[in-house]
Amino acid sequence: MASNVLELDDLTVTYVSRTRRVPAVRNVTLAVKPHEIVGLVGESGSGKSTLAFAIMRLLTNAEVGGQIRVVGQNMLAMDPEDLRRFRWKTISMAFQSAMNALNPVMTVQRQIADTLKYHQPHLSDEQVRQRIRELADMVRIDPARFQSYPHELSGGMRQRVVIAIAIALRPNVVIMDEPTTALDVVVQRSLLENITAIQAQTGFSIVFISHDLSLVTELADRIAIMYAGRIVELTAASAAADPGARHHPYTQGLLAAIPRLSDETVVIRGIPGNPPDMARLAPGCPFAPRCPQRMDRCLNEEPALRPAETGQIACHLFH
Ligand SMILES: Nc1ncnc2c1ncn2[C@@H]1O[C@H](COP(=O)(O)OP(=O)(O)O)[C@@H](O)[C@H]1O
Ligand SMILES: [Mg+2]
Repeated sequence: MASNVLELDDLTVTYVSRTRRVPAVRNVTLAVKPHEIVGLVGESGSGKSTLAFAIMRLLTNAEVGGQIRVVGQNMLAMDPEDLRRFRWKTISMAFQSAMNALNPVMTVQRQIADTLKYHQPHLSDEQVRQRIRELADMVRIDPARFQSYPHELSGGMRQRVVIAIAIALRPNVVIMDEPTTALDVVVQRSLLENITAIQAQTGFSIVFISHDLSLVTELADRIAIMYAGRIVELTAASAAADPGARHHPYTQGLLAAIPRLSDETVVIRGIPGNPPDMARLAPGCPFAPRCPQRMDRCLNEEPALRPAETGQIACHLFH
């Protein structure tokens, strides 16, 4: 069996400032296999972007503990020069906001060409143009549009450009941080379908970050549910779609929030309450204050992530 393209082992990320420490990611262990799409789902503030930035080694004011291995290489031991060579070529990221990720004063064509030439200086101008045409084709943009500046493109097209840059160097794994969140539903659909097609064609692995469980269930092979900086459930996407499967109470809440078209009346139930303040985490299970199935034990003892029927679950109800 091929080894994992990405391995996180007890990964912990703490933002540190003079006045406080925020443990934004806590003890995350996760392995992503070749060709696999893993969805990372959780409410805003659950630590998804922090996890992504930590993997890419793009955080400055944070302490990172544990292990990050990408195709077997220890990311945390790399010096800046190693990282520059490694990033984009082996692991890349498509950022949440396409407008911020792109350089506003450079045409899209120039930005992609620069990325290609920086990592592959031996490429001829014609080879660069050829690869750019291939990329335009993959993300379904008329190559002529690549002569535009980012602000001249629609939000959906900008997001396609960001994905084109992320896959330009044929990485083994791409982290996509809410790539479709800012888009309207029709554009979102078409982009997701495009991402699936590119992935099927090129075979890279994807860590797909979203707050939308229904969207990720359609796209991913496995889903990691994050709450208060931890993975509270790791499940096959098929189990998230299976109404009979047992889940973590938080996952159940997320599932209940998805309107079902088969219902006669659609009642969208959110999860009452709010996620905890990460700078002031209380002992016990961080979901306990919002959990309809809370037990006394939950207020004192934080449950570990342990094997369950459909994957792994961190909940005292299951162990
Ligand atoms: N630069 C930062 N300094 C301190 N705390 C931060 C910083 N960035 C994010 N946080 C905190 O870390 C937690 C996780 O944030 P984030 O990773 O952005 O979550 P998500 O992407 O799931 O919405 C939140 O509590 C957030 O307030
Ligand atoms: Mg985020």
